[in-house]
Amino acid sequence: MSYGYFITFEGLDGSGKTTQLRRLATSLEAEGHTVVTLRQPGGTPLGDRIRSILLDSRSEAVLGPISPAAEMALMFADRAQSIAEVILPALAAGSVVLCDRYTDSSEAYQGGGRQLGSERILTMHAAACDNLQPDLTLLLLPSLESSLRRARRRNQRHVEKQGTDENRFERESDEFYRRIYEKYEEIATRAPHRVIPIREDASIETIEQIIRKIVLSRLDHAEA
Ligand code: TYD
Repeated sequence: MSYGYFITFEGLDGSGKTTQLRRLATSLEAEGHTVVTLRQPGGTPLGDRIRSILLDSRSEAVLGPISPAAEMALMFADRAQSIAEVILPALAAGSVVLCDRYTDSSEAYQGGGRQLGSERILTMHAAACDNLQPDLTLLLLPSLESSLRRARRRNQRHVEKQGTDENRFERESDEFYRRIYEKYEEIATRAPHRVIPIREDASIETIEQIIRKIVLSRLDHAEA
């Protein structure tokens, strides 16, 4: 591959996308691809600092409430840095880049969840990311009911786990997650070629096979 291939994973908290990303990375590497993985927010020294501000539940005790627009701008500062430092160099070297969340997360969480609307997010995307789009987005989106159940279960686990502070987002209400879910649906409808929703509420192995099939056929086309 002369230019790499950019794949993002999206979904609600607890959707299992991180597990699927790791499995896909392992299987692509076994087939001889060079794979670069990263997550957003985070993945660069600057991004890790931003991540701890955004996700640490203690941030607001120290900094006061973070406004939705500030939250959006910090997500994009993180993203701009990871594009410059990781994503573009990896694509230029011909790697497959697997990114855990990208601009669709900002549109779903800040645009939908925090009700900033899509337009502001897409304008930020143009300004901060030069409109860099993934070649493929795997959106893990089982039914709303089971998504809410999974998000709640994950919140509970975070609450029980002492020492984990990454739960600022996870204290949100069902209504917040419902808005995120609906925004993801809207994105999938708007960009059907790029965004492939995976709606099955199946085992990790079954979803892994579904993802492999989609990715291999896309990579075959990209290489042809
Ligand atoms: P993380 O612990 O990485 O969660 P997950 O495993 O569910 O991806 O936390 C990332 C959180 O940040 C998650 O709740 C979604 C949120 N987020 C946004 O609100 N906007 C964004 O642009 C991104 C990238 C993440």
